[in-house]
Amino acid sequence: MAIAIPDFLYGTAWKEDRTQGLTEQALRVGFRGIDTANQRRHYVEAGVGEGLKAAYRAGIVKRADVFLQTKFTYQRGQDHRLPYDPSADLATQVAQSMQSSLEHLDTDHVDSYVLHGPASGYGWSEDDAEVWAAMARERDAGRTRQLGVSNVSLRHLHQMAASGAEMPAFVQNRCFARLGWDRDVRAFCAERKIVYQGFSLLTANVEVLHHPLLARVAARANATPAQVIFRFALAVGMLPLTGTSSAEHMTQDLASRHLALAADEVRHIESLAE
Ligand SMILES: NC(=O)c1ccc[n+]([C@@H]2O[C@H](COP(=O)([O-])OP(=O)(O)OC[C@H]3O[C@@H](n4cnc5c(N)ncnc54)[C@H](OP(=O)(O)O)[C@@H]3O)[C@@H](O)[C@H]2O)c1
Repeated sequence: MAIAIPDFLYGTAWKEDRTQGLTEQALRVGFRGIDTANQRRHYVEAGVGEGLKAAYRAGIVKRADVFLQTKFTYQRGQDHRLPYDPSADLATQVAQSMQSSLEHLDTDHVDSYVLHGPASGYGWSEDDAEVWAAMARERDAGRTRQLGVSNVSLRHLHQMAASGAEMPAFVQNRCFARLGWDRDVRAFCAERKIVYQGFSLLTANVEVLHHPLLARVAARANATPAQVIFRFALAVGMLPLTGTSSAEHMTQDLASRHLALAADEVRHIESLAE
């Protein structure tokens, strides 16, 4: 049975030796979705596993309460600390990376397995098709509940669909306000019931964060501009990620779900940076 998809994901990139403590803290504060990757260059997946175990021991959550998402990353996105044999074929690399993820996370399955990025920025390639088929076999064997793709353009998604590939349950993209907050990809996802996960909502959109409109809405809602952006993301149907390392911001980010935004405020924010 697939676990319900939470309405906020805690992202574990760039935490290095704070990964374990911050993962445990995020769960303690109330996050029920954790995003990681078997890519040692940016993530310490084993630290996420340690954080989860600490949270289980402390009685904060059980495995079944947590939506766990990790990723397969091509060699070109990795450093020398590879979770697979680089001389093996891609399908074998996927199987080895998944096996290593399950060991890091001390579980027999993850809830979502994401292709970290296609092999080429230009289109959905034969390599991607091979990796995607291997990921589907992992899903069919019960090692992940659902599949996703990340760092994709509308062109990638159209080509994937045209190739007859199974479409993902999730798309995870860096969300730029100046591109209508990835409007075209979001529309594609909405049509196909794909859940759009948005990251770098604050860091990619500093001009919006400091815009007078955000200050006005934040003052009206008795919130911070960062909270308004996360609430806006939910309002337009995104599943937001936060990568905060601050306990106070963790609490604020989760609390943003309860802010009330007027429909015209959402519309204004959506078209702010275009
Ligand atoms: N698929 C991919 O290729 C990819 C790429 C990048 C990221 N991701 C995922 O997305 C996650 C999030 O990454 P991100 O780029 O969105 O975040 P991030 O780079 O980790 O940064 C979040 C930033 O926002 C600040 N922040 C968070 N909540 C705040 C609040 N309430 N008030 C003020 N500042 C706040 C944080 O500062 P403080 O720490 O001081 O709060 C931090 O500077 C990553 O951890 C990773 O899991 C995926």
